[in-house]
Amino acid sequence: MKFFIDTANLKEIQEAYDLGVLDGVTTNPSLMAKEGIKGDANVRAHYKSICNIVDNNVSAEVIATDLENIIKEGKELAKIDDKIVVKVPMIKDGVKAIKKFSSEGIRTNCTLVFSAGQAILAAKAGASYVSPFIGRLDDISQDGLELIAQIRQIYDNYGFDTEILSASVRHTMHLIQCAEIGSDVVTCPLNVITSLLNHPLTDSGLAKFLADHKKVNG
Ligand code: G3P
Repeated sequence: MKFFIDTANLKEIQEAYDLGVLDGVTTNPSLMAKEGIKGDANVRAHYKSICNIVDNNVSAEVIATDLENIIKEGKELAKIDDKIVVKVPMIKDGVKAIKKFSSEGIRTNCTLVFSAGQAILAAKAGASYVSPFIGRLDDISQDGLELIAQIRQIYDNYGFDTEILSASVRHTMHLIQCAEIGSDVVTCPLNVITSLLNHPLTDSGLAKFLADHKKVNG
């Protein structure tokens, strides 16, 4: 399973990359705004900085919502770097744009997916990745992980090669259950990745090993 980090913060991206387990980055307009990045030139420069840290798979989201402008903006984003994946919302013109990008070899991530039907549309249009939002479904008392399982089964039934990129992953149990279901990718904040390190028995076991070593070696 690939690990993407869901942030536009360069320090966090570098920290996850340095851990040696990072396969990509997802951003969205809210995450870019959180970093105070504004204006087309600054946005593009920021995406380039992200691409300079990681090896591949940097999702850059279009702001446009009509076909002509999604295509125009997506092509501009794709020109920034070969690592860019154009992130397109699950709307009618978004699906049309994904089909067009896919026919031109531009990789896409279909975002804001909340149902199996939307995931089928994204795959049929040729999306490279589909992003179902687990946490936001849980927030409205629907089972986000159940949606991941449903999409996994449907994609396997038909051999769709769109990768399931589980998003809005809020904690380690989400991540682990995504792995059990067979999600191709998870994207999550840095703290979810680093929380995977934690176990009290690891801490107490290491303390005991070091104490026993010190008893003999001084
Ligand atoms: O990748 C989508 C993600 O940014 C949404 O996460 O926690 O805002 O629902 P969240």
